[in-house]
Amino acid sequence: MQITDREKFKSSINRVIITREEIQNAVAKAGRMLSEEYEGKPLLLVSVLKGAFVFLSDLCRAVDIPCEVGFMAAKSYFADTQSSGSVEITMDLAQDISKYHVVIVEDIIDTGRTLSEIIKLLRQREPLSLKVLTLLDKPERRVVELDADYSLFTIPDHFVIGYGLDYGEYFRNLPYIADFKE
Ligand code: IMP
Ligand code: MG
Repeated sequence: MQITDREKFKSSINRVIITREEIQNAVAKAGRMLSEEYEGKPLLLVSVLKGAFVFLSDLCRAVDIPCEVGFMAAKSYFADTQSSGSVEITMDLAQDISKYHVVIVEDIIDTGRTLSEIIKLLRQREPLSLKVLTLLDKPERRVVELDADYSLFTIPDHFVIGYGLDYGEYFRNLPYIADFKE
């Protein structure tokens, strides 16, 4: 799918479910929370590309203590019934995480399968601590046991786009979260 038409692009945006302002307020609050919790500690914010890049870029600017950012990319190959074991890391972190308190910054936790594999992998590297902060959580969809340490918004089982989240690689640039309409 390639979209070049503005009207077609707009017609896929069904309804804004989380506004720009609501996101900004939640991100500011999360930034303050991280700044308190990790003050005086080496902090590494890790984002799994691509979905979380917008969230991480706002979040790191809402943190007012020293921190580093790191990026990973992963490909998942899950059959419908399978719940673990099929994640390939296509780009790894540059940092040795044993020297950091790591916070994984996610866009959305859906089934939880990808993230749970990434957590397993990062745990093996023995970071000083490891937590998960997600912008969105769809708990109804979970197939593995996984709770984020911090979740900014809980949403129902609807496909959403915007603020980093895509459909067919589009809509990541919307400044809000919307319901997607085919
Ligand atoms: P899972 O938790 O392993 O199922 O994978 C979560 C990934 O699926 C997220 O990082 C997103 O890339 C994608 N995803 C899940 N739900 C949505 C959605 O509603 N909109 C866009 N992407 C989604
Ligand atoms: Mg993602």
